[in-house]
Amino acid sequence: MTRKILVTSALPYANGPIHLGHLVEYIQTDIWVRFQKLQGNECYYVCADDAHGTPIMLKAREEGIEPEALIERVGREHQRDFAGFHVAFDNYYTTHSDENRHYANLIYDNLRRGGHIDQREITQAYDPELEMFLPDRYIKGSCPRCGSPEQYGDSCEVCGATYTPAELKDSVSVISGAKPVERQSLHFFFRLQDFEAMLREWAGERLQEEVANKLQEWFDEGLREWDISRDQPYFGFEIPEQPGKYFYVWLDAPIGYMASFRNLCDREGIDFDTFWNADSEAELYHFIGKDIIYFHALFWPAMLDGAGFRKPTRIFAHGFLTVNGHKMSKSRGTFIMASTYLRHLNPEYLRYYFAAKLADTVHDLDLNLEDFSQRVNSDLVGKLVNIASRCAGFITKRFDGRLSAKLDTPELFREFTAKSEQIAELYEKREFSRAIREIMALADTANQYIDEQKPWVIAKEAGQEEQLQAICTMGINLFRVLTVYLKPVLPKMAADAEAFLGIQPQAWGDAQKPLLDHRINPYKALMTRIDPKQIDAMLEESKESLAAANAASKESEKQVETTPEIEFDDFAKVDLRIARIARAERVEGADKLLRLTLDLGGDERNVFAGIKTAYQPEDLEGRLTVVVANLKPRKMRFGVSEGMVLAAGPGGRDLFLLSPDEGAEPGMRVK
Ligand code: MSP
Ligand code: ZN
Repeated sequence: MTRKILVTSALPYANGPIHLGHLVEYIQTDIWVRFQKLQGNECYYVCADDAHGTPIMLKAREEGIEPEALIERVGREHQRDFAGFHVAFDNYYTTHSDENRHYANLIYDNLRRGGHIDQREITQAYDPELEMFLPDRYIKGSCPRCGSPEQYGDSCEVCGATYTPAELKDSVSVISGAKPVERQSLHFFFRLQDFEAMLREWAGERLQEEVANKLQEWFDEGLREWDISRDQPYFGFEIPEQPGKYFYVWLDAPIGYMASFRNLCDREGIDFDTFWNADSEAELYHFIGKDIIYFHALFWPAMLDGAGFRKPTRIFAHGFLTVNGHKMSKSRGTFIMASTYLRHLNPEYLRYYFAAKLADTVHDLDLNLEDFSQRVNSDLVGKLVNIASRCAGFITKRFDGRLSAKLDTPELFREFTAKSEQIAELYEKREFSRAIREIMALADTANQYIDEQKPWVIAKEAGQEEQLQAICTMGINLFRVLTVYLKPVLPKMAADAEAFLGIQPQAWGDAQKPLLDHRINPYKALMTRIDPKQIDAMLEESKESLAAANAASKESEKQVETTPEIEFDDFAKVDLRIARIARAERVEGADKLLRLTLDLGGDERNVFAGIKTAYQPEDLEGRLTVVVANLKPRKMRFGVSEGMVLAAGPGGRDLFLLSPDEGAEPGMRVK
């Protein structure tokens, strides 16, 4: 029976370009979808730009254009980038559409009639100059606890304190520079807590282990109502009968999945209800990053349930991309945009590398650029296409392109086709790295076969024509099976291979039948090696495109001039010490903090450091740094911090932990 499957990737925000981090998700989804289609399932892959919200409204203002013009342009760029990486959506739409407005209104209305929407007045920071309410991210000031300047409205990157914007000292609106005032306004809330029992049951067996654990924590903390409205000015959908009130972007964003599918249905005559009715037997899967699990595993199924629609079959969450072991960084040139990559490298290299590293987990995934070229060169060029290039020449030159009528070693061919189900199952379970390992093991076997048969020797011997043709036919047939197995990952290579072999587009099952007594075309290189220069050029260009970002961080350097002088005695009070980071751990529930266990030469300290945005904890363990050792212990939300590590930089990804020259020992005083 063919399965009916609807698949989505998260909708990228329409205010920035697609980068390699995003591509982890779109490539992962695309591989899975292509696999389903090769299996003959009725599978649709829809996505859209997430076009609403304050950042998009402000970005458009900054550029002096209407938000509609901005999302139009960015939407086009996104689609161009995705196409460049062979990500093949059945429909790519926008959340700023009639279909989306229709379903947002419908879902809201059903929830309201079901008694799941509350309303009440809340107090919020308001920019009197711009006459708009300010999201926390748009307010900066000094941390009420440690006094660090330039902290956001919700939490301090330096000490990790969390607070409300009103508690921030000397706060200013990031947009206008005005001092925010407090203002009341009526907001609408979705009663998530009404759905706890349903969610617990729904979550049951259908989530990855790490995601299920996360949900359990959220259940333990208690589900709270969710603010789904925003005041004007806002770029989004106005709430019916509530002039000046808009749906919060995250309300209509997931509804964008439905809207994009609706748009596809209307165009192609697919029955929408079969996929979305409460009793639907079609499968619905959402691929997402680990940062948006709350929205997809709690709010979204609750909204669907409350509004009378079916819920997702499964949510597939993945981890974040690091480059060379670090968060992507603008200053290192590793914040690589999709379009920059495409100017230097073949998209299938990246598809292959991601596939070779992806599994069914939310673990972060590292793009190590050295490993990347090595792996691509050795697997794709050295192993895979090598099989074809070693055999094709003889067939073309000596046999007029004709393959033999029977296989030289049918057992070996059967060994290859017998792997079909196992590899299919690995794709199905999104264990791509294991699928690739199986396929590459077969590529090794094929090369071994050719090494043993030595067609280049036989070619020189008289009277061995038939044998030569049979060996090369065998090699070409093994190659063909491998290209079918890799087709979800390397669609372009597979299509080029089909053209070379003179065959129709292959489905999964076609790998079972050998290709015999058939004419192939002359071989042209199917894949070329990566030259390290291409990677250097890509990194260089990624740095260049960030001149603007650097200009912004110059702003914070002005600080140097305005910091008041201090007496030497004041400085001498600070006890700076060399510390070894014995352990570094993530802190559950904290976006920016790492918990460090520091060794100060016998003395152990527990320190919370706001450096998670720039470092992977694994990379920190064992390294030396500098710590303020006599800072009064501070009680923070996650525990007591007994000191402070020193780092430079504007923050976010660009934070640089100080380290001493070689020879320094834990406990040494820094003077
Ligand atoms: N607009 C929301 C999603 C709404 S879905 C109804 C959003 N957009 S995003 O552009 O920030 O991210 C889109 C997807 O890309 C998310 O699933 C996100 O997790 C993923 N990634 C963004 N940066 C990433 C990495 N560096 N690494 C891996 N995935 C990343 O969130
Ligand atoms: Zn602070």
